[in-house]
Amino acid sequence: MTKLNTHDLVVVTGAGGFIGGHLVSELKRRGHSRIRAVDYKPFDQWYQHFDDVENRVLDLREAKACEAAAQEARYIFNLAADMGGMGFIELNKAACMLTVLINTHMLMAARNAGTERFFFSSSACVYAAEKQTSADVQPLSEGDAYPAMPEDGYGWEKLFSERMCRHFTEDFGLITRVARYHNVYGPHGTFDGGREKAPAAICRKVIKAQLSGSGEIEIWGDGEQTRSFTYIDDCLEGTLRLMESGVAEPLNVGSDQLVTINRLVDIVENVAGVKLKRRYKLDAPKGVRGRNSDNTLVKARLGWAPSISLEHGMRKTYEWIHQQMTTGQRILA
Ligand SMILES: NC(=O)c1ccc[n+]([C@@H]2O[C@H](COP(=O)([O-])OP(=O)(O)OC[C@H]3O[C@@H](n4cnc5c(N)ncnc54)[C@H](O)[C@@H]3O)[C@@H](O)[C@H]2O)c1
Repeated sequence: MTKLNTHDLVVVTGAGGFIGGHLVSELKRRGHSRIRAVDYKPFDQWYQHFDDVENRVLDLREAKACEAAAQEARYIFNLAADMGGMGFIELNKAACMLTVLINTHMLMAARNAGTERFFFSSSACVYAAEKQTSADVQPLSEGDAYPAMPEDGYGWEKLFSERMCRHFTEDFGLITRVARYHNVYGPHGTFDGGREKAPAAICRKVIKAQLSGSGEIEIWGDGEQTRSFTYIDDCLEGTLRLMESGVAEPLNVGSDQLVTINRLVDIVENVAGVKLKRRYKLDAPKGVRGRNSDNTLVKARLGWAPSISLEHGMRKTYEWIHQQMTTGQRILA
């Protein structure tokens, strides 16, 4: 098997979304000249849209659409999913599980098209909930996904699709690579409307408090729940390294800089140069109590792990959201 050439066809699904849009941009930056970008949203809703790649609007729940997406592809990065932050996945479990149609049909299409490598974007939500009950958490290592008790809905679908990847490799010889992303954030993603995740939501709330002069911010839960957040550039580096690697088993792609949500708010307040009164909404969706990434295996297998600081990444994210909100390109939630 030869290494991917820059003129081989690479397909990115979910390319109108946050990570997919950045991945298309990064592949272009690395010199790839044949990229097919696929999403089911109309082009004017894509976060990033590049005229010099092949852009397709296809609903990948349909098998025929997946065949069209996969045609002649050497590599496929499958990032399409019906997903969002805690507020979305706790209230839309069936919708999250229906993403299995995308993953099933894309794997079948990749196999039928003779695709060489298939990347699947899994999630830290596959990890057993009982290992995430304390804010002072033991970082999650890859083996913690079993015995299985993932996040209801979204996490079960991810774990099922991870296994489907494994069996497509064993039974059909399709090389699959699986990353378990941990809370990826950065510019060019959703920050309002209900699908946003904590980093973008907090930036939006801080900016809104400044613009309206309310001086107040609402925080979901007591703010002492812990997480790690992965900046988009680390996510892309991990994705591309894993795809080219010989690592067949799922790997964490996540930062291990653990913070409380209160600390995340401090960071954004520092960037914005404000101090807000905090109002805690204790009955809001909050997810697990604590979650961090154990990067021992990713370091051993890829010789790499995420390293971009939250302070740097949040500044970039804040600046982009601020620009979107103040130039009136997006409606405030
Ligand atoms: N962002 C994170 O923190 C994170 C964490 C863990 C896993 N992931 C996974 O990474 C992938 C990308 O996430 P993201 O943050 O870019 O999400 P996103 O919502 O910004 O992007 C997903 C894209 O998939 C598209 N899509 C949904 N249904 C489709 C369909 N039927 N046909 C074609 N396209 C469809 C959406 O329109 C959207 O543009 C997803 O699989 C997600 O589950 C993300």
